[in-house]
Amino acid sequence: MPGLHKFDPLSNLASLRCPPPVRLPGEWLELLRPLPFRYPLEDEQYIATSGGRRILLRPIRPGDAPAYEAMFQRLDRDDVRFRFFSYLKQLPSNELLRFQKIDYDLNINYIALGITKSHEREMLGVVGATIVPEESTAEFGLLIRSDQKGQGLGKMLLRKLISACTGRGINTLRAEVMPRNAAMLALVRTLDFQFHYQADGTYVGIKRRLREA
Ligand SMILES: CC(C)(COP(=O)(O)OP(=O)(O)OC[C@H]1O[C@@H](n2cnc3c(N)ncnc32)[C@H](O)[C@@H]1OP(=O)(O)O)[C@@H](O)C(=O)NCCC(=O)NCCS
Repeated sequence: MPGLHKFDPLSNLASLRCPPPVRLPGEWLELLRPLPFRYPLEDEQYIATSGGRRILLRPIRPGDAPAYEAMFQRLDRDDVRFRFFSYLKQLPSNELLRFQKIDYDLNINYIALGITKSHEREMLGVVGATIVPEESTAEFGLLIRSDQKGQGLGKMLLRKLISACTGRGINTLRAEVMPRNAAMLALVRTLDFQFHYQADGTYVGIKRRLREA
């Protein structure tokens, strides 16, 4: 019949194909990734910065290394030096290894994650400690992305580390800080750390007892 369109299944094949895979925001993909067996899920905690931004503090998981590398690229030279005692261009391999080969027994690592406007998670800070079992001590390093300093993140991460170490029965928490690092020295002073100045002026040993020996 003139004017009547015949149904042609072949010409409609395109509409029958599966729709293209949905591009999920990075935040959702993270939720869908299976967690490692030993992952301490109970340690996850939402906090708010002094500016009101919602932040997730959580133990590290497999797959976090690229976020750490991205954060490193956004650090001021002096912050890199204060953390690693050297002007590095990329993360030291031993630091990256802590993120690639996660050992929840020997290391305690927490990261601070924010959500960008495009719904991606971004890493804003990290505190990492290595346990020295024979001394019942944990040696730690703390780092906040340079543009995120001064909002309470450093203190919240360090408090979380103190609480985790105390919960594990560790006696002492310690670190080495450059004498010029006024921000870190001010922070740990508010958390009752003791200072031990080295005679050669290379670093200040900071130490906090977590329980009586
Ligand atoms: C040191 C560092 C971790 C502080 O983190 P932060 O998130 O900026 O610190 P916070 O906002 O949590 O501040 C915590 C306390 O320290 C004080 N403080 C922070 N920066 C300070 C500064 N530049 N001068 C004086 N006091 C400072 C704050 O007044 C605050 O005290 P309050 O809680 O009584 O108000 C951050 O500057 C950093 O990553 N520096 C580079 C790496 C580094 O030095 N690591 C330490 C070596 S292990």
